[in-house]
Amino acid sequence: MYDYRGFMIDSARHYQPIEDIKEIIRAMAKLKFNKFHWHLTEDQGWRIEIEKYPLLNTKAAIRPYSDFGKTHRDEPYGIIYTKDEMRDIVKFCGELGIDVIPEFDMPGHTSALLSAYPEYSCGKKDIKIKTHQGIYKDILCIAKDETVEFVKDILDEIMEIFPYEYIHIGGDEVPSAQWENCVLCQSVMNTLGITDYTEYQNTFINKIIDYLESKGRHGIVWNDIAKGKNLDKRAVIQYWKENDKATIEFINSGGKAILSPFSYYYTDYYYEITPLNRVYSFNPDLKGLTEEGKKNIIGLETPMWTEYVETKEYMQKLMFPRVIATAYTALGKNDMPYSRFLCDVRAIRAELEKDGIVFEDEKEWTYSRAHNPIGWKKFANDHYTKDFFKALKDNE
Ligand code: ACM
Ligand code: ZN
Repeated sequence: MYDYRGFMIDSARHYQPIEDIKEIIRAMAKLKFNKFHWHLTEDQGWRIEIEKYPLLNTKAAIRPYSDFGKTHRDEPYGIIYTKDEMRDIVKFCGELGIDVIPEFDMPGHTSALLSAYPEYSCGKKDIKIKTHQGIYKDILCIAKDETVEFVKDILDEIMEIFPYEYIHIGGDEVPSAQWENCVLCQSVMNTLGITDYTEYQNTFINKIIDYLESKGRHGIVWNDIAKGKNLDKRAVIQYWKENDKATIEFINSGGKAILSPFSYYYTDYYYEITPLNRVYSFNPDLKGLTEEGKKNIIGLETPMWTEYVETKEYMQKLMFPRVIATAYTALGKNDMPYSRFLCDVRAIRAELEKDGIVFEDEKEWTYSRAHNPIGWKKFANDHYTKDFFKALKDNE
C-alpha cells in the first residue's frame, strides 16, 4: 500500500461548484484516496483568491469567451474560489482523512496571471488570458528577483489556506522562446554558465523548492524538468511523461516520486483510449527502477483534466469506475484477476450510486488495446480543430 493515494481535479480550464467537488471527494474517500491535488491555476484562468494581488481575483480569473476544441461559448467565463471556500474544502477533506494539495503552476501555464501582471513576463505588455487548449509561450521571467518575490508572496497566502506538507508548483510544458529573446534571461544564463533551458528553469524551481522547505513544506513538480540534472533532490517528481530515463535516474538516485502515467491514469481520455482494464494493468515497478528506487515511489495519482469536461455528470462518468482501478493498485489490492476485480467494481458501483455518483455504462469499461487508435481518432475528431494545431505551433 502506498502512503500517497491521490486524485487531481483541474478547476482552472473549467471550474466546479464546491458542492460538486465535495460529492467527488466523498466518493474518493470511500475508495481510500487520501490526497486531493487541486489544479487551480492555468493559462485559461486563475482560481485562488489572493489578497496582495487583487487583479488575480478579477482579470486573471475571467476569460472573455471559451473555445475548447469544437465547443464555443461566447460568454465570459470564470470564478475565483474564495479563501473561505478553499478553507471549507480543506476542512471537509480533513474530516475524511484527505490532505489537499493546491497547485500553482509555474513558470509556464501562467498566461492568466500575466494578463493581470505582465511586469513579471520577459517584457511583453499585452498578454491575454487564453481561451482554448494548448501550450503557451507566455511564461514568467525568472531572471527578475521581483518575480521570485511575487511568487513567494502568493505562496505565503496559499500556505496559509492549505496546511499540509505538499504544495504543487507545476513546472510542466514550458516553451523557452521568450527566455531566448530576453536580455535579462540571457544575461543570467551567461553568468551561471547554463545553456540548457530546463536547467535554467530549474534554477528558479530550486529557489521555490528551497523556500517551501524553509516553511516546512515539500514542493511537487511534473516530471518534464527531471531532464535538467540540477533539479533539487528535495523536489517530489510527478511522473506523467512515460518512459522518461531522466525521471528514473532522479528516482534511483534518491528523489521521491508520484506516478500518474498519462496513458493509464489520465481520466479525461475516452474509455476506448484508456479502458478500465488498462488502468488496472499499470505496474508501478517502472522499467529501470532499482530496488532502492522502488522505495522512492511514494504513491499514485489519477488526474482529471477539464479542457473538455464541463458538467458534473460527464466528469463522474469519466472518473468512475476507472479511479477504482487506481485505488486498488495504490492499496496493493491489484493482484486479483481482472474478472474478479470487475465483481468488486460492480459492488462498489452499487454503493456509490446510492450517493448519487454517476458511472459510465459497463459496456464501455473494457476494450482491447487494438481499439486505442479508434478511440484516439474519435477524441481528435471531437476536440482537435485546425486551430488547435496552429495554436501549438505559433501560439503567443
Ligand atoms: C500535464 O499533463 N501537463 C502535466
Ligand atoms: Zn526573461
